[in-house]
Amino acid sequence: MTTAHIGQPTDRVDGRAKVTGVATYAAEYHVPDLVDGVVVSSAMATDTITRIAAADTRARDGVLQVFTHANAPRVPRSDRRDRDEVAPPGAPFRPLDDAEITSSAPPAALVVATTFALARSAASLVRVGYERAVHATDLKEKREAAYPPQARELMPPLPTPRGQAEQAFANAAVPIAAEDLRPIEHHHPMEPFATTVVRDEDGQLTVDDTTQGVQHVRDDLCHVFGCSTDDLRVVSPYIGGAFGSGLRPPYQVFLAVLAARELKRSVRVTLPRQQRFSLGHRPTTWPRVVLGSAPDGTLDAVIHEAIAETSRFEADSEPVVHWSGLLYRCDHVTRAHQVAPLDLHTPCDMRAPGAAWGMDALEGAMDELAATVGIDPVERRLKHDAERDQHDDKPCASQALGAGYRPGAARFGWARRHPEPRSMREGDTRIGWGMAGGVWDAGQLPAAANAMLTADGKLTVSSATADIGTGPSTIMTQIAAETLGLPMEDVTFTLGDSSLSKAPVEGGSFTASTVGSAVKAVCQEGCGQLFQLARTSDDSPLADAERADVTCTGGHIRLNRDSSRAVSLTAVLRQGTRDTLEAATSAGPSPTRAHDSSSSHSAVFAEVNVDQDLGTIQVTRVVSAVAGGRILNPKTARSQVLGGIVWGIGMALEEESVLDHAFGRFVNPNLAESHVPVNADVHDIEVLFVEEHDEVVNPLGAKGLGEPGVVGVAAAVANAVFHATGTRVRDLPITLNTLR
Ligand code: MOS
Repeated sequence: MTTAHIGQPTDRVDGRAKVTGVATYAAEYHVPDLVDGVVVSSAMATDTITRIAAADTRARDGVLQVFTHANAPRVPRSDRRDRDEVAPPGAPFRPLDDAEITSSAPPAALVVATTFALARSAASLVRVGYERAVHATDLKEKREAAYPPQARELMPPLPTPRGQAEQAFANAAVPIAAEDLRPIEHHHPMEPFATTVVRDEDGQLTVDDTTQGVQHVRDDLCHVFGCSTDDLRVVSPYIGGAFGSGLRPPYQVFLAVLAARELKRSVRVTLPRQQRFSLGHRPTTWPRVVLGSAPDGTLDAVIHEAIAETSRFEADSEPVVHWSGLLYRCDHVTRAHQVAPLDLHTPCDMRAPGAAWGMDALEGAMDELAATVGIDPVERRLKHDAERDQHDDKPCASQALGAGYRPGAARFGWARRHPEPRSMREGDTRIGWGMAGGVWDAGQLPAAANAMLTADGKLTVSSATADIGTGPSTIMTQIAAETLGLPMEDVTFTLGDSSLSKAPVEGGSFTASTVGSAVKAVCQEGCGQLFQLARTSDDSPLADAERADVTCTGGHIRLNRDSSRAVSLTAVLRQGTRDTLEAATSAGPSPTRAHDSSSSHSAVFAEVNVDQDLGTIQVTRVVSAVAGGRILNPKTARSQVLGGIVWGIGMALEEESVLDHAFGRFVNPNLAESHVPVNADVHDIEVLFVEEHDEVVNPLGAKGLGEPGVVGVAAAVANAVFHATGTRVRDLPITLNTLR
């Protein structure tokens, strides 16, 4: 009699709308008299705008206005209250705020015209004069200016050191010191950043935006423009990817709202791909990992330091070195993280921020250590697998790092690996097998949800979260359907509207646990309300029951001990002569969580083929074994990890936003010259889930998979390249010219 939906490989509830084009994205709203804004980007790095010649442009037919710093209204940016929910310390970027240019290609003007084509052609006529100043975009050159940033809210603080790492390293029999440079990467979701602001006759604005957090964008806009949340609503029913780029409000949303307010009409601003490169990105990072070990591989010292870029106006920081003392048993650990200001936009979170570069550096060094002492890398890790959280010496609420290693190794056939580098080959092809581990915190934040059941038995559950393609729409529908005992087709989950129940940004791999817990709670609350109605009706078969004795299942409220005693949900509503029943509640992390540590873990195994003459690298096989708690939907979960693996291949071998330091500009700001893995780069990928039952992490037992899916993949590929060739390339991506 159970209606089991959780754990089923359910198809995406929004899949059909997306593939048939029914789903509308932020740039696809057509309202009468909609006008378009096109951004004119500053041409030079670190300058002052001295002059903007726009008179000719303004005089053109169809051009409504050219906004520049000279005529745009001033907005606040210096107070703590001016920062959005995800912002690091500092003064957030505000477009057209003043004449100073402090990053690469920020907006110099916004041209608004009656059509997109007119606006674009008019924008090409705007002439901007500059006074040049010295700029810096090379991290290595700015290392002297690096400073330790304040930890960001929502991010773990830097853990305290333990033991005497420097001394332990000095005494270590086997010293390993690895210094790597990691490049800038830009997010490349399919949907460009876009905002359509629809203004009604009363002047109220509906802002359709490409965002991972509708309420957070609403609050920020209302603060900046001094308007009330009654007058401005942000919606984002669909978003075509994001990977973190939609966490903070990008400048086009401010420009679109500014123009709509000033011109008193509906305005759309869409950024072409090239202008994405003037926004947040994964920061170039320079990690240094130092390991000291005994001859048998026992880890004596871990020192992990990193310098990353930030902007001149904000102190961004990521948990780059955080993980290096968490996973492995080691008595002497120190970590340091610094940022150096460059003349680029503030970096922003990109899938597994910090961990992606930091863990990969650690896992490369661990591989080097294993190879140096002659221990199998899997055995070396299992030898140091920490059963307790090494930061705070707390018990782990469920299986730790080791969980995926043996099943992953077995699936991959790791036992057949010849440990010696350059020892596996087929004709002219050198074969390498490498592995690495991944990790990410299993986080949960407070969130609320609303449930509405109508007399026809249809349920709508809602919360102001987002679905960036990761699957929340689907898993929330599953959770709601199961908790109220309804078929999937009778349940709708609504998101992406700032007027819905409060939810944080969708990110950090915490949405399944955060919003999922709220959805479960509100459906339980709804079931309780229905039960109270049901038991008080005449001749109720549940008259003598208590709440704990009944469950909502199969469209009925049923007595657990005698399932024949039941009342249908629709009958309850009819008896109560009600058309609808509504419940609202919230959920947050349980206090018991504080006593235990919870993380998702992965063990990644990769095979590469390296052509010995040409040096070309193919990743022919990847197996990732993931311990991510309860898997709510194996289909969407697998897709998450598959995507992470593809990305990891790109991080190892392809991705890099290349700067020309002379001009302080990116030279490959497009999808033709920014390399990412395509079908021909992606071969056999297998994802295994290691079942876990974690009673502590949250009522669903789910830990999150978005970020952990990518962590460790690039290291596994790089380690495989070393195994194939005997060459350890420290800087990513590994390309033909670096693999010599
Ligand atoms: Mo994720 S980087 O929090 O979208």
